[in-house]
Order: sequence, then C-alpha cells, then structure tokens
Amino acid sequence: MNILLIGGGGREHALAWKMAQSPGLGRLYAAPGNAGIAVHADCVALDPDDHRAVIDFCDRAAIDLVVVGPEAPLVGGLADALDAAGIPVFGPSAAAARLEGSKGFTKDLCARHNIPTAAYERFADAAAAKAFVRAHALPIVIKADGLAAGKGVVIAETLAEADTAIDDMLGGRFGAAGESLVIEEFLAGEEASFFALVAGEEVLPLVGAQDHKRAYDGDKGPNTGGMGAYSPAPVLDAAMASRVMDEIMRPTARALATAGTPYRGVLYAGLMITPQGPKLIEYNVRFGDPECQVLMMRLASDIVPALAATAGGRLDGVSLAWRDDVALTVVMAAKGYPGQYEKGSVIRGLAALEAEPDLVVFHAGTTRDPDGTLRAAGGRVLNVTARAPTVAAARARVYEAIDRIDWPEGFCRRDIGWRALGRGTG
Ligand code: AMP
Ligand code: GLY
Repeated sequence: MNILLIGGGGREHALAWKMAQSPGLGRLYAAPGNAGIAVHADCVALDPDDHRAVIDFCDRAAIDLVVVGPEAPLVGGLADALDAAGIPVFGPSAAAARLEGSKGFTKDLCARHNIPTAAYERFADAAAAKAFVRAHALPIVIKADGLAAGKGVVIAETLAEADTAIDDMLGGRFGAAGESLVIEEFLAGEEASFFALVAGEEVLPLVGAQDHKRAYDGDKGPNTGGMGAYSPAPVLDAAMASRVMDEIMRPTARALATAGTPYRGVLYAGLMITPQGPKLIEYNVRFGDPECQVLMMRLASDIVPALAATAGGRLDGVSLAWRDDVALTVVMAAKGYPGQYEKGSVIRGLAALEAEPDLVVFHAGTTRDPDGTLRAAGGRVLNVTARAPTVAAARARVYEAIDRIDWPEGFCRRDIGWRALGRGTG
C-alpha cells in the first residue's frame, strides 16, 4: 500500500516511523515532511490547500491512502476533495471537522445529546457577553469560536480580564475565528486526553495520555502546543475510559452519523476528570502532538491496517494491542518559543542515540543540509521519547538522552511527568 502523509511535525514523524514498520507499506511519501520523516519517506512539496495538486500527486504516485496529520487541511475540506476523487483518506470531512473548527458547533452538539461538558452560552455581541459574565461566578472561560492556534482561550479570574478578552476576541484579534464566542463554566479537575478511531458509528478506543501545555517548569509560562506528554494517563483508568467511551465518544459518533456527517479518522477528546466524572473540554480531529509520539511508542500492533480500515469505514475487524510500559516524551524547543525564536541553529549528537533501545528522537521542526548537518527549523524541534516500565524510568532515560544532545539554542522542561510521579504510580 502506498501512503501519502500530510504534515511535517513530531506527530507525523511518529506516524511515519510506525507506518515504516508495517509489512503492508509500499512507498511512503510525506508533504512536506522534515529531516526525521525523510528517513522513512520521500518528502514532497505539496500545498495541502491546493486540493487539485494533492489529487494529481496521488494519481501519479499510485497512492492508496492519504493520512492527514494536522487539523487545518481537514477543516479546509481536503478529505472531501479526496473522497470525491475516490482516494481513501484517514481524516474527517470538513463538516465533521467542525468538532475542532467550531467550539460553538461542538457545544451545541453536546447540549443536544447530553454529552457532559461545561455549561455555556454563545455570543456575538460584547455587551451581552459582559452581562452574562457578571451574572456568573469567576473564574470563567472565554473562547473564540474558530481555530486560533491554541491562543483563543482565556480563563478570566477577574471581570476586567473577562472584559478585555471579550473585546479582544470580538474586536477581530482572531479574524473570522473570533466573530463569535463561547463563554463557559470553569471546570476543576485533572486534564487528560483520550483517543479513539471512529468510522461512522463504530468507535475503537486507543489509549489515554497527558500533556504539559505550559512552556516552563511547574506548568508556568505561556501556553504552547505541548512541551511533553506521557501515556498511560493514570487518571484514565479502565473504569474512567469506559465512561468516556459511553458518555462522550460513542454518543458523539452516533450524533454525527445521524446528522448525515459521519466521522472518519482519529477523534481526540480533551477531558477534565471532575468529581462528577469525565467532562469534554474540547475535541480535536487529529492525533495530539506530542501525544501521538507516546501513543506510537506504546502501540504493539501494525498501524497501517487500522488506518486503512478507518478510511474504508469499517472497524469491526481491527484490534490493537498496547504495551503496558509507559512512554514519555519531552519536547526540545528553540529558545524563545512560543514567542520569537531563531531558526537555523545546528543540532549535534543525535547519531549516538540511534542505537539506544526503546528510545526514539522524533523530529518536529528540522532540516538537513546536503552535507548532513541537522538544523532547527521551527519552534518545537525535537521530541525525545522513551519507553520503560515506569514513569520514573522512562523520564530518566529521556533526560539522559537530552543531556547528550548538543544544541545550545534549545531548551526543554525538566519536569515532564511530575503529576504521574506525584501520584506514586511512577
Ligand atoms: P482548549 O483550547 O479548549 O483546549 O483550552 C485550552 C486550555 O484551557 C485547556 O487545555 C484547559 O487547560 C483550559 N480550559 C479550557 N476550557 C476550560 C474549562 N471550561 N474549565 C477549565 N479549564 C479550561
Ligand atoms: N498537545 C495538544 C494538541 O495536540 O492539541
């Protein structure tokens, strides 16, 4: 089977690494890929928004399956265009991708189908939004409706913060994504991510993970795409995972199928585990990054048949085995991330880590010069990932490896996994 993978981050490197182990894989292409993905795939320059160009490439390269990593091409209708051209695709239609593309859409779906989530209202008018905030308890959560690169959520502790967020968002700071707002109840609890493959009404649970969104140790500093992750998530034990499936994932798949917009692909639920049970914070229509890296390290089964079956709309023949071990990943980012940072600095020392068992350095933003020199080319640059019987052991292996990487222009958090360690489950 020839596969085209769309994307070029650490998530896509983990998918490429895992797919490359499949006996069923023919040729693997990635657009745009990165220096790590290039070990497993032919990297090609294709604009995922140019649907015609993607389809033409698929015809020329005899592609049997397109796997879409990031959300933006899905929200932009790439899967619909591939569907219309008869090319199997792992990833939802634009209509189903509204689960991530519009917070208001998801909240309304939850309300109609009794899916547990924070109480909320939608607003397009600042005065009405401010009046609502005054009638409710603080802190309160204010979200731009559309995709805002992780920056469209403000947890307001004071009325002044709430007013500023409302004015900023409705004032055009996020363009069309901020034309309407969701204002919702603040949920207290522990966050976790849950993943499932979905094909219409069929839902196959994967496993859970937890990530660290803040830039600095102690979960301080600005929000990022994610600075590290581990799986399993101790808070998502078997009983909790089964509640998440029954109360959240299956009703969502059923609701979309019944509405004539069935889901296809991986569905990622961002959850708050509250004293009352799991509540949905948000959906993403893709694998998490860096959560995908730890999932792929734990997946014992071949992933290619599962991706192909999802794309084909049938999951009944698929079963996936997972290693009991913990996988943990630490993101190395360019100094300055998530703000301004330099590109082009040289990274040394990775070759010596290649022979290490149960340790993989996934690449996110990297490029390689013709002479082999590896350079940083993005904010999040490397994901140093290990598998071991405990959180403590996996984390020790990752930080030992990081200390052998020579990249003075990079930084990482030193406390990934602290919550799992603190529970005594490490
Ligand atoms: P989101 O972009 O929806 O994932 O929100 C970003 C982060 O804001 C989440 O990962 C949570 O940490 C936090 N958050 C979002 N909604 C709520 C809520 N209703 N209550 C508490 N925290 C929230
Ligand atoms: N790590 C969070 C995300 O992928 O959205």
